[in-house]
Amino acid sequence: MELEELPGVGEATAEKLREAGYKTVESIAVASIGELKEISGMGEGTLMKIIDAARNTLQMRFMTGTEVMEKRKNMRKITLGSKKLDELLGGGIETQAITELFGEFGSGKTQICHQLAVNVQLPEERGGLERNALYIDTENTFRPERIIQMAKGMDLDPDTVLENIIIARAYNSDHQILITEKASELIKEKNIGLIAVDSLTSHFRSDYTGRGMLADRQQKLNRHMHDLQRLCDIHNLAVVVTNQVMARPDFFFGDPTAPIGGHVVGHSSTFRIYLRKSKGGKRVGRLIDSPNLPEGEAIFSLSEVGVRD
Ligand code: GTP
Ligand code: MG
Repeated sequence: MELEELPGVGEATAEKLREAGYKTVESIAVASIGELKEISGMGEGTLMKIIDAARNTLQMRFMTGTEVMEKRKNMRKITLGSKKLDELLGGGIETQAITELFGEFGSGKTQICHQLAVNVQLPEERGGLERNALYIDTENTFRPERIIQMAKGMDLDPDTVLENIIIARAYNSDHQILITEKASELIKEKNIGLIAVDSLTSHFRSDYTGRGMLADRQQKLNRHMHDLQRLCDIHNLAVVVTNQVMARPDFFFGDPTAPIGGHVVGHSSTFRIYLRKSKGGKRVGRLIDSPNLPEGEAIFSLSEVGVRD
């Protein structure tokens, strides 16, 4: 199917899109309104129709189980630095998937993101991908000093490790969305194997306050998650996102995935790990809702050199 066959796409538009690298209907189907708007100069309403039409044609294309298996063969795992946590996740965090870390303040979300930004650089035999990291920092909590400590802890050259982490500060939720939309080029150029979004939700919480804005917030956040999922699929990389929630004293009786303050991410992440503080400075990670792994818990610690058993 040619681009011109999409409703609202004339010859001139199709040409513009092709020049910008959108050569197939498929590439339109997975594009976001924002990126197409800039290239085509068309209105959001029209673009929504075009993208919808492109997506509808895609839904006719089924994959066989074998094809899915083939795609999953390219899936890789990144070690978390703790054997217990790796076991819980069946070997580490997966590429082609979004892993959500949620838990209260100080539960270790940011520390794990730092650790993964280091570990993705490890050679494959040591649980890495020998690729680099993109760190989307929304709370200004990225600390190069921690990276240096963790790199040393892995016997890696700290300067190289630091150089191979690209940090993008996101100043508000729209900016955060924009960064992910624009990330494709950078991902290719810098050979990115991990994207950490720390925190996924903080800007969305402060930008969309009040009951009336909940639907808007949800919609934007869903789109952001879809953008991230698209990057995972196209570039065979791992995405880890963090989400601060308040601890629930009734955790063991209630539903841990429905935290106070409202759970805004829903179920668009593939793996969800609930983190909590435990006795003696230890941390507990609990796997929730995994498509192919049993639920369970792992105890780990945060030390000077990073995440360990
Ligand atoms: P919020 O972003 O506030 O929601 O918390 P978080 O879940 O991101 O917490 P974070 O990952 O920042 O964890 C902070 C905790 O990590 C601290 O309370 C320490 O227990 C631990 N930590 C951080 N740096 C070090 C360090 O250099 N040495 C040791 N031993 N522990 C550290
Ligand atoms: Mg944090």
